[in-house]
Amino acid sequence: MKKEISRKFCVAPMMGYTTPYARKLYRILSNNSFLFSEMIATKSLIYSKSRENIIDNDFNNPVALQVGGSEIEDLAKASKIAIDYNYDEINLNVGCPSKAVQKGSFGACLMRDKILVRNCMEALQNDRIEATLKCRLGLGKELNYEFFEEFIDEISKTGIKFIYVHARNAILSGITPQGNRTIPPLNYDFVKKIKNQYPKITFILNGGINNLDKAESLLNEFDGVMVGRLIKNNPFILKEVDKKIFKEKSLLIDESIINNYFEYIKPKLDFESIFRLLSPLLNIFFSVPHNKIYKSKINDYMKDRKINLIEELLIKFISEKKLS
Ligand SMILES: Cc1cc2nc3c(=O)[nH]c(=O)nc-3n(C[C@H](O)[C@H](O)[C@H](O)COP(=O)(O)O)c2cc1C
Repeated sequence: MKKEISRKFCVAPMMGYTTPYARKLYRILSNNSFLFSEMIATKSLIYSKSRENIIDNDFNNPVALQVGGSEIEDLAKASKIAIDYNYDEINLNVGCPSKAVQKGSFGACLMRDKILVRNCMEALQNDRIEATLKCRLGLGKELNYEFFEEFIDEISKTGIKFIYVHARNAILSGITPQGNRTIPPLNYDFVKKIKNQYPKITFILNGGINNLDKAESLLNEFDGVMVGRLIKNNPFILKEVDKKIFKEKSLLIDESIINNYFEYIKPKLDFESIFRLLSPLLNIFFSVPHNKIYKSKINDYMKDRKINLIEELLIKFISEKKLS
């Protein structure tokens, strides 16, 4: 029987970070976390020659493919591609505030047009895949519950089951995407309130969850949490998630983690940059004393593409440091 998918603990979509390689590592470290791809523009998804590399899934389910776009036909095609690549979910990005994304008419600026977002969601819907949404609370400097409620009300008409809410507004001009993750204030109460109003929809809380204790305690009030920067900065936090959040056995950190990961990336060396392939794993040195020695050695090996030496060094590091 197929295991029921849990969205209790989700790793947020992050461009430049939640690559297929990072997701491979995340899955090695946690069986139960729900993963996301980076946001991929529908046009790239449909027309890019390197689509295979961008959206490779390699059975790292449960996993969502996040797309950015607002053209109905493209979204319907994107949904079919997500099915072909064995994704469990297709998610529409209605939260990214960057200028480039606004120019392409997708991301957070779509919150201005709730009817269009509803049409987009309907285009993504298909009985073979879950179509979901990631949005903000609203736009601009002022928080306005009515705006948020009216937006969600319109989207609820599609029968949507899961909405991820980055619980702050997006400010579309005058601040950077990074500023948009810190400056607009967080408001978890809006998410609590909307969740009570729409009990048929599961709302997953995102924004500012910067340690696992906080994630665990928020799960007393919310059905799911989504965590971004905490995992970006140190993916090895995920080795605690199955135990702490899902009450399962904790993962033993041993050389099989490294072997597993290298087995996946080695065949990709011919067409992918060694840095992109290895960067998720190099966070293993996060807050390890004297880590510069390892890092500089790995840098030298990377320049010479000596992948086997890097693998040996990481195995040695794990056995000496006993990271578990
Ligand atoms: C480097 C980076 C890239 C991001 N890229 C995306 C993206 O592709 N799609 C998206 O919906 N959100 C993106 N986000 C926002 C995150 O998904 C998340 O909503 C945000 O970081 C807040 O969660 P956190 O406080 O746990 O980091 C990105 C965030 C970061 C830090």
